[in-house]
Amino acid sequence: MKRYEKFADDIAELIRSGMLGPGQRVPSVRYASQTYGVSPSTVFQAYYLLERRGLIRARPRSGYFVNTHAPSPFSEPAVSNQVHESTEVDVSELVFSVLESIKDPTTVPFGSAFPSPLLFPLQRLSRSAFPSPLLFPLQRLSRSLSSATRDMDPRVVVTDMSPGNPQLRRQIALRYMVGGLMLPMEELLVTNGALEALNLCLQAVTEPGDLVAIEAPAFYASLQVLERLKLKAVEIPVHPRDGIDLEVLGQTLARHPIKVCWCMTSFQNPMGATMPEARKQALVELLRRHQVPLIEDDVYAELYYGQQAPKPAKAFDTEGLVMHCGSFAKSLAPGYRIGWVAAGRYAQKIERLKLMTSLCASMPAQAAIADYLQHGGYDRHLRKLRYALEEQQSAMRAAIARYFPPQTRVSQPAGGYFLWLELPQQMDSLKLFQMALAQGISIAPGPIFSPTRRFRNCIRLNYGSPWTEVSEKAMETLGRIIRSF
Ligand SMILES: Cc1ncc(COP(=O)(O)O)c(C=O)c1O
Repeated sequence: MKRYEKFADDIAELIRSGMLGPGQRVPSVRYASQTYGVSPSTVFQAYYLLERRGLIRARPRSGYFVNTHAPSPFSEPAVSNQVHESTEVDVSELVFSVLESIKDPTTVPFGSAFPSPLLFPLQRLSRSAFPSPLLFPLQRLSRSLSSATRDMDPRVVVTDMSPGNPQLRRQIALRYMVGGLMLPMEELLVTNGALEALNLCLQAVTEPGDLVAIEAPAFYASLQVLERLKLKAVEIPVHPRDGIDLEVLGQTLARHPIKVCWCMTSFQNPMGATMPEARKQALVELLRRHQVPLIEDDVYAELYYGQQAPKPAKAFDTEGLVMHCGSFAKSLAPGYRIGWVAAGRYAQKIERLKLMTSLCASMPAQAAIADYLQHGGYDRHLRKLRYALEEQQSAMRAAIARYFPPQTRVSQPAGGYFLWLELPQQMDSLKLFQMALAQGISIAPGPIFSPTRRFRNCIRLNYGSPWTEVSEKAMETLGRIIRSF
């Protein structure tokens, strides 16, 4: 057998065993040739062979990908079928105990909500290794911060108050435009992260006691916002590929006086679903018929693995009913706390609420990001980041196939950095959370994603950190604990 045939067979085995799933990128030619100690031309020959066998295909300027019809070893998580009654929300204690667990930097951060800005994990870096190799362009950003603030006119404190720094808002509007969405600058308000934007949106359209349609499972911070504002949740099931169930949402809108719908239409946290475009359009149309506004949380919009960013539901909004919330926290500048909302007909109301709560977002942080977007090479950085996340997803799925019980169901998101796992029925993810933490591993247990504490046998795992032996060992340990139940 020739070397390239042997190498092709190894890759084919990875595909057959599910370590490389449909749609996933196979190792780049450079990476494969370095890691496997073969020449780049051997890797090319192997990939041509796999292409002929129909297992992978090339995408122009992006590399080789596993064909989508190649079998995935995992079933997808089930959709929760449930009664759609309204519920008061009381999840904070549980959520805070999980958040506390990820603060310790020595804990393996599978329960974290953040991607790691490092190229190597903290455990591997000695003090002298700082500044460490970074996946996020934090050094370039700090140059932007110093150049943008050096000659900053002190009057910006007044002139750039909410809706925010005009250069930054122009850059955000330009990114919308490139994605095919023309938004007037007046709609855009800069906020302290997307979380503030989401809070303000909800506040703008509800009164205490109102009903809000949310996803099941939903991002836990959205539940905490409902709890804080004393709103009631009506849970709508989420399908792992198609997103929020439009039929159930339609029935709910017909039966209950829903004030607003809050959902993630792309790379839903925690399920990973991205609604197909037609369904996004149908969602907007359904809500329009009922004149119910949509809060669209789209914080992972830039973290797509495909050729193009999925369009947001906002692209189909003709009446200004969609409030589209974005952020730089997950894709560029984690600590700068800069997010925004394109708020449609609610822009003025939200701007006033913002002035009444925190006045404006940090001026230096806004100026730095505006400068970086203009001169720093954001798209180049994003390509690197998406590639790293996709590779890390493959590594985590492969580890699940190796160590977890075969009945485990796993989502396969096409962006973001979370996997949603449905474990065997007898599993108690809250107990698993405690047992894993005792071994120095954090996970996000299913019940924190629901006001009715369902999803007890589910967990969310974060693959936003570089994959190392530590991650591999942690997955092995998790698998062992799960099998012991
Ligand atoms: C789904 C989702 N929405 C919103 C946020 C808040 O984003 P930001 O950090 O910009 O406030 C997060 C952060 O974890 C998130 O995961």
